[in-house]
Amino acid sequence: MMTAEFDLQNVSDGYLADPYGVLAKLRAKSPVYRNPDGTFVLTGYDDIVQTYRDPMVWSSDKRATFRPKFGNTPLFEHHTNSVVFIDPPNHTRIRRLFQSAFTRKALEAFVPRITSLVDYYLDRLEDQGQMEVVEEFSFCLPIEVVCDLLGVPRQDRKFIRGWANAILTALEPTLTQKQFDSGNQAVGDFKQYLRDLIAHRRAYPDDAQDTEVLTVLADAKTDGERLTEMELLHQCIFMLNAGHETSTNMITHGIHEMLQNPDQINSLSENPNLIEPMVEEVLRYQAPIQINNRRATSDQILSGVTIPENTTVHMMINAANRDPAQFPDPDLFDITRRPNRHLSFGLGIHICAGNALARIEAQMAFQRLFRRFPKLALKSSAIIAPRVRFREISSMHISVT
Ligand code: HEM
Repeated sequence: MMTAEFDLQNVSDGYLADPYGVLAKLRAKSPVYRNPDGTFVLTGYDDIVQTYRDPMVWSSDKRATFRPKFGNTPLFEHHTNSVVFIDPPNHTRIRRLFQSAFTRKALEAFVPRITSLVDYYLDRLEDQGQMEVVEEFSFCLPIEVVCDLLGVPRQDRKFIRGWANAILTALEPTLTQKQFDSGNQAVGDFKQYLRDLIAHRRAYPDDAQDTEVLTVLADAKTDGERLTEMELLHQCIFMLNAGHETSTNMITHGIHEMLQNPDQINSLSENPNLIEPMVEEVLRYQAPIQINNRRATSDQILSGVTIPENTTVHMMINAANRDPAQFPDPDLFDITRRPNRHLSFGLGIHICAGNALARIEAQMAFQRLFRRFPKLALKSSAIIAPRVRFREISSMHISVT
C-alpha cells in the first residue's frame, strides 16, 4: 500500500496538468488505493467495470453523503432526485422517461438542426478567419441542442448556463457560503422557470418544434403513472445540465487533439468513415467526466483489497481509459483504434442516456469542421482548467491558414 503520496481531495499541479501519468503510476502500484480520507480510488479497467455492473452492491444513492453537506435545501432535493443519483427500483421507473425522449425518431429529427447550427458557426469562422473555439463553437452547439430538446425559447437560453453552473459547482468538495446560496437559488429559479414553460407549452402545443420533447416527458407514464411534478422538474434540470458541459469539452478536446496530430486529420479526409472511431478515441483519450462514484452497500473485495461497507469509491474513468491491459499503447491518440470500449459514458444501468445524441453532435461537428477547413491551426496553447472531476479546456484560439 502506498503512503499518502496521492490524495484525490488535494491533488498536485502535476496531476491537474497530466492526470493520466500520475494515475498510471498509481495503478501500477496500487490499483485499489486507500485515499487519506478513507475513500478508495480505483484505477484498473476491470475493477471499474465490475462496480458499474453491480448496482445493488455499488450504490449511486447520495442521500447519506449530501445530507450533511446540503441539509434540507433545494440543492439536496435536486441532487438526490436526479436519475443519476438514484438506485433501483426508483431508478428503473425514472430512467424509462428518458427512453421516451431519446427515440430514434427524436434523434433523427436533430440531424438537420445540428447540421445547420454547425454550418452557421463555421460560416463565422470563415468570415473571421479565426475563433475562440469554446465560446463560439463547442459551447454554443450543445446548449442549443439541449435547449431545443426541452423547448427552451431562444431569449431564455442565457439563464440556463448560469443556473447550471451554480448547481454543478455545488458538487465541488468545498463550497463558500456564496456558492451554496447561489446553488440553492438556482434550483428554485430553475424549477419555477420549468413549471411556467410546461404550462405554456400545454396551453400552446402547436408552438413546439419537431425536436422538442418537453410535453412527451411531462405526459410520459412509467408503470401506468406519471412522474410527480417534483421528479419531472429535477430530471429536466439534470438533462439541461448534463447535456452541455460534457459535450462542450468533448468537442473542444477533439479539435485540440486533431490539431496536435495533423496526420490524423489527413487520415480522416482520406477516409471519412473514420469519423465514428475518431469520436470514440476523443472520448477515450480525454474523458469529459473523469470520475464517477459509488458506495459499497456491504464489505467488498476488489483486486484483493477489502472495501468496507458504506465506503465511497472513486471510479477513475480517465485511468480506466488508459489501462494498458485494455488499450494497447494507451497514451497514443489513434483515430483508427478498434475495439475501443472506453468508459466515458459509464456502463450498466446508469450508462449515459444522452450518449447517442452526444455522438451525433461530435460526428457532425468534427466531420464538417475538418472537411471544410483541412488547414486549421492552433493560434495559442489551449488553457486546461484546473478541475479534477471534469476535463475542461476553458479557452482555445484557432485560425484558418
Ligand atoms: C460527451 C458528452 C457526455 C458525456 C461524456 C456524458 C457522460 C455521462 C456519464 C459518465 C454518465 C454516467 C454517470 C454514472 O454512472 O454515475 C452519464 C449519465 C447521464 N447522462 Fe451523460 N454524458 C454526456 C452527454 C449527455 C447528454 C447530451 C445528455 C442529455 C441531453 C446526457 C444525459 C445523461 C443522463 C440523463 C444520465 C443519467 C443516466 C442514469 O443515471 O440512468 N448526457 N453521462
